[in-house]
Amino acid sequence: MFGVKRIICSFNCLKRKVLRIFAPRNKKNINNMNNTYKAVSPQEAVKCIKSGDHIHLSSVASAPKCLIDAMCERGRNKEFKNVYIHHLHTEGEAPYASAEFEGIFQHDAFFVGSNVRKDVQAGYADYIPIFLSETQKLYREGYVPCDVAMVQVCPPDDHGYVSLGTSVDATLAAIETAKTVIAVVNPNVPRSFGDALIPMSMIDIFVEDDTPLMPGHFTEPNEQEIAIGKHCAALIEDGACMQMGIGAIPNAVLAQLGGHKDLGIHTEMFADGVLPLVEKGVINGRNKALDRGKMVSTFLMGSQKVYDFLHNNPMVAMMDVAYTNDPFVVAQQPKMTAINSALQIDLTGQVCADSLGTKFFSGVGGQIDFIYGASRSKGGKSIIAMPSVTKNGISKIANTLSLGAGVVTTRNHIHWFVTEYGAVNLYGKSLQERARLLISVAHPDHREELDRAAFERYGSHYRFITK
Ligand code: COA
Repeated sequence: MFGVKRIICSFNCLKRKVLRIFAPRNKKNINNMNNTYKAVSPQEAVKCIKSGDHIHLSSVASAPKCLIDAMCERGRNKEFKNVYIHHLHTEGEAPYASAEFEGIFQHDAFFVGSNVRKDVQAGYADYIPIFLSETQKLYREGYVPCDVAMVQVCPPDDHGYVSLGTSVDATLAAIETAKTVIAVVNPNVPRSFGDALIPMSMIDIFVEDDTPLMPGHFTEPNEQEIAIGKHCAALIEDGACMQMGIGAIPNAVLAQLGGHKDLGIHTEMFADGVLPLVEKGVINGRNKALDRGKMVSTFLMGSQKVYDFLHNNPMVAMMDVAYTNDPFVVAQQPKMTAINSALQIDLTGQVCADSLGTKFFSGVGGQIDFIYGASRSKGGKSIIAMPSVTKNGISKIANTLSLGAGVVTTRNHIHWFVTEYGAVNLYGKSLQERARLLISVAHPDHREELDRAAFERYGSHYRFITK
């Protein structure tokens, strides 16, 4: 059965790849002469969904709200059951993940965003652990079928191409493999370049909507985050190519880079923090070995300013996640510097970034893709940066990870580790040396207790750092 599904999937994939290359105007619903199309209502469009189907939603800012609403309405009317929903993280409401739709929708996402976190933790919704680089592989190699891809695109250009705007990631793979592609044509979707441009002929059903893209919400960095930003900035060399992960730290780091020169961007996502650096000419991509002069990303989430920046901007290439997050592509950029955050680290350097104990908070995302890629790059650096304590004063540096916490970055992968108290490099260091280095950047209130725990682990050979 699985073999048949994989063959069907490979056929769909090949068919759409061919369409993408030759872009024939062979769809009844597209007018060949002026690139107009026949749009239907969201309610009409989602009529193609059947019980047992697997649905992909375009991600983050680009989640197709009008289609989600229409699909949930059919779900409420019990018009189908056991419909699987897949996506990276999405902004906005995700009602399909809630208890209301048990038995109607099965949410199996590739990342746990804030809008589904409670439902995943309660067990109504679920998560497929997967490297961000391989989310596309799930579709392309048929591990996860895609019956209907629901995406947003900008209006077509003179040549019959639309752009996926802020969400190329695994969405392009979903489009290539889906039996049916529904696209919301939305003038608020930025016309981005790179792999984002696809011919209209890859789309089966068109809907029109002008709901603005969801903005990402970021707060100004606090004192702790500013200090972390400064320690990271001191590690970033002129000419470095940067990736920044998700969370509060990236903007705090970017705010400290105004005096740097010739930085490049090869990342999975970026947000508002890069804009002043592009304006100042600090980010110019001059030193990149691949895509010189261009900023490369696979999805974006920021304020309207970021979406305006992306629109018609040849400086940005929105690429397939198979390219952006491939560690062996990442490794080709000289001085590749990856900065990611985490929830907890133990005294041996094991990093948890996806769960608080047994409760899933997030996903692995691209952390390991970039940590590994950066560690293989000439002059590259990989950095895990996080506050030493939570806002409730709990130490995020712990003797052992909490029961049930998963290791995202292993103790073999970790290099630099940064808190507001400094930066330490764990790579090539012994277990006891790692413990001492980690304790040296722990919150002073917790250093003694951690030092004692290390002594209990390693016995009398261990040299205390707090005595
Ligand atoms: N013990 C208990 N609670 C903890 C904790 C710990 N060790 N560490 C963090 N928390 C709590 C915080 O207090 C906060 O609680 P709140 O939601 O009530 O405010 C919450 O967990 C989130 O922590 P915070 O430090 O604010 O997270 P963040 O927004 O900076 O994001 C990650 C950090 C790790 C969740 C984020 O980087 C992530 O999702 N990473 C995924 C892996 C990755 O890096 N991928 C690459 C990018 S896709």
